Amino acid sequence: MTEHVKIFEVGPRDGLQNLNQLVATEDKIKLVDMLSNCGFSNIETTSFVSPKWVPQMADAANVMAGISKRDGTTYSALTPNMRGYEAAIGSGVDEVAIFGSASEAFSQKNINCSIEEGFSRFTPIIERAKIDKCNVRGYISCVTDCPYDGATDPDQVIRVAVRLLDMGCYEISLGDTIGAATIETTHRLISSVLNYMPSNALAGHFHDTNNAALENIGVCLEAGIRTFDSAIGGLGGCPYAEGAKGNVDTVAVVNMLHEMKYETGVKTEKLDKAAAFARSLGEN
Ligand code: HMG
Ligand code: MG
Repeated sequence: MTEHVKIFEVGPRDGLQNLNQLVATEDKIKLVDMLSNCGFSNIETTSFVSPKWVPQMADAANVMAGISKRDGTTYSALTPNMRGYEAAIGSGVDEVAIFGSASEAFSQKNINCSIEEGFSRFTPIIERAKIDKCNVRGYISCVTDCPYDGATDPDQVIRVAVRLLDMGCYEISLGDTIGAATIETTHRLISSVLNYMPSNALAGHFHDTNNAALENIGVCLEAGIRTFDSAIGGLGGCPYAEGAKGNVDTVAVVNMLHEMKYETGVKTEKLDKAAAFARSLGEN
């Protein structure tokens, strides 16, 4: 039987958040609708963060209001605090994601608080999400390298991952925020983390700065991980990780997986058009 690999399409959020020019709300909606038509099971649609920090995501509620939801697709958004969570739920998201970091300096730069303070912001979100029956995904940034603190010890990742899972996240997305992971560091990370949680609780989130993302996904596949984040058109980056390129390109990941005889449920004939449209929206 063909094995399924889940592609978590993050282009409308991670892809667009770092573009220099503001993308019109109607174009964001058009992109999400094109992606819905490609059959993705998960589309990270926007983020409910401070517009002072990330102006590109200021229209999150309008994007959510404008998209045509497809049955079978989960539309999610990043929520850094209760204010973001309430706005996200009010706008009709199906799932939220909280985002922490394995490195102290990146936590400060990205969400303006320490790793520990981050947990105290996430706790009420998860408690409320349980009542609302809303799934919560957890991101950890800088899983192998941090732009400020240098190399990340896998133990730092394990500490945050165990905490997020214990709190109630259904999945931990391991973020190579600056695209610096190598086959060796990815292998070291994944084999360490798997001592503490099963592969089906993990996702790989590789930025492609050094063109190593596909190889790193290969390492994760060998270790049993079956969920990967990618961005249509390879767009993106993080405003707080200068020089980091976009997420690995969805088209490249889907093609590689299909060549490896995995099944993704993604309609490849519609992907190229969506990728061309995503690229037309701007450059990192
Ligand atoms: P803060 O300044 O410490 O907090 O920001 P604050 O509570 O003092 O709020 C500052 C201002 O933002 C206030 O406005 C708040 O009202 C407002 P003012 O009073 O000055 O006019 N505010 C909000 N507005 C809208 N929605 C909200 C919200 N919260 C506060 N939810 C905060 C703390 C977390 C809000 C800020 O640091 C922030 O928004 N950070 C987000 C940064 C971000 O989005 N980074 C990119 C996404 S993460 C990523 O890309 C990595 C990932 O892809 C994985 C990987 O690759 O590693 C996931
Ligand atoms: Mg990212």
